[in-house]
Amino acid sequence: MRSSFASVAALLYICLALILPEFAAGITRHYTFNIKHHNVTRLCNSRSILTVNGKWPGPRVVAREGDTVLIKVVNHIAANVSIHWHGIRQLRTAWADGPSYITQCPIQTNQSYIYNFTITGQRGTLWYHAHISWLRVSIHGPLIILPAKNASYPFQKPYKEVPIIFAEWFNVDPEAIISQALQTGGGPNISDAYTINSFPGPLYNCSSKDTYKLKVKPGKTYLLRLINAALNDELFFSIANHTLTVVEVDAVYVKPFETDKLVITPGQTTNVLLKTKPYFPSATFLMAARPYFTGQGTFDNTTTAGILEYEHPLGHNSHIKQLPLFKPTLPPINDTNSVTNFTKKLRSLANSKFPANVPQRVDRKFFFTVGLGTRPCPQNTTCQGPNGTMFMASVNNVSFTLPSVAIIQAYFFGQSNGVYTTDFPNNPPVPFNYTGTPPNNTNVSNGTRTVVLPYNTSVELVLQETSILGIESHPLHLHGFNFFVVGQGSGNYDPNKDPANFNLVDPVERNTIGVPSGGWVALRFLADNPGVWFMHCHLEVHTSWGLKMAWIVLDGPQPNQKLLPPPSDLPKC
Ligand code: C2O
Repeated sequence: MRSSFASVAALLYICLALILPEFAAGITRHYTFNIKHHNVTRLCNSRSILTVNGKWPGPRVVAREGDTVLIKVVNHIAANVSIHWHGIRQLRTAWADGPSYITQCPIQTNQSYIYNFTITGQRGTLWYHAHISWLRVSIHGPLIILPAKNASYPFQKPYKEVPIIFAEWFNVDPEAIISQALQTGGGPNISDAYTINSFPGPLYNCSSKDTYKLKVKPGKTYLLRLINAALNDELFFSIANHTLTVVEVDAVYVKPFETDKLVITPGQTTNVLLKTKPYFPSATFLMAARPYFTGQGTFDNTTTAGILEYEHPLGHNSHIKQLPLFKPTLPPINDTNSVTNFTKKLRSLANSKFPANVPQRVDRKFFFTVGLGTRPCPQNTTCQGPNGTMFMASVNNVSFTLPSVAIIQAYFFGQSNGVYTTDFPNNPPVPFNYTGTPPNNTNVSNGTRTVVLPYNTSVELVLQETSILGIESHPLHLHGFNFFVVGQGSGNYDPNKDPANFNLVDPVERNTIGVPSGGWVALRFLADNPGVWFMHCHLEVHTSWGLKMAWIVLDGPQPNQKLLPPPSDLPKC
């Protein structure tokens, strides 16, 4: 009786797996991350940087949709550390999400923690990075989710897949830079170079040997997995004389479209297909990235470049140096039009296999301003922020303070007192002309204030950029969810007029969105994942200044709608 039940169950399972490849149960994959120092020389400067396993970028984590991933992180450095799996939904496993003091206490020196999560309903490129202070500058790497076994890409199978990670190189320790900036109230020093897979490339002094080369064959299709891991800069990217086909962003397929340049904010990932020329082109091609920036402060306005090099049909690669080198044209630094034109093309695939489940009704509406602000300089000191104040940043004028224990623990064990409050404002406390002349008083308030959402609340969130201390695009990242980008515009959001133009059919679905410089963006998501979820600007300097907050999503009534209990090795504060 028992065995016949088992065989019927097995048969049913096999049938289901055949009909729905996504149903195929995954396997468990194990990784070990040793967080340790590693000496690196760039621009003729040697430094000991923080890495995963002595590698920068860190090792690839590769899994299939449906797999469970167990990553043991061992801290061998003096500083506390935690790792965030950026974009992984962490259904019921918020304890494995990674932001320090939100979903865990950081891992202390000589301690370890096993991150344990299952990848459900996601496929494409994501990434991981340290989530404390500015340690993510070099503690980061690709997290690649392949389609489930027997499932395929909704586009031509690429000949090869190549991660391309943009990051920043500093000649001095970035931890010293941010700690000094937070003390003086001024803007932090900028990076010395951008990098492609850790190499600045030939446009910097003392750097030509540190150039990333992508060697390709003619007549093939390559899948480039672009990741912007830079601390503080949105980037334009282009490859000379080549068109790219965008097929996926933030591990969600999009309607494919061609472009010769793209923009990618810190936190975002973009998969593009690169079709190489049908014949050996007798030329080499630069691929280059440089910032998109509209703010008032200083920024690193250098250009990183790598080389796209065709293999010679006869194997004569020694002549490559004599071939002409083509350079791409990148948009002007402050070219908001290029950014809008690009982001408007992003649409969900929205077909029967990969539907866009855009919430059609809304339970709760939120209107959040995001932008810069100030704090008065402490008495008897001088500060280097605007007009002698200190730089701050806020959401609805609240500059978020991290507590000294993890919010999720305080929540789970019912000990929120003195850790966080649940009164985060739904709207700006004092309305003003957000993108017009800024108010005289630009001071922010402080607090560890959260929004509590019942399970399955359908949320509409409008993020409005402010012109306080200059307009600037803010890449907002939401943990634990993807959201749909149902609308965007310049100037002030109009709740009476703008919703009529919302796209509720095939809006792009992602986890990080650039709130337009001097504009707004409208997002929708279903709060179907219980836990505590951080939301913050992915420009690390703005996060340091407080442009961050947290959502608490309550358990649902069903057993499978509840946050799991904490793992036994969860780090202590
Ligand atoms: Cu990629 Cu909270 O970050």
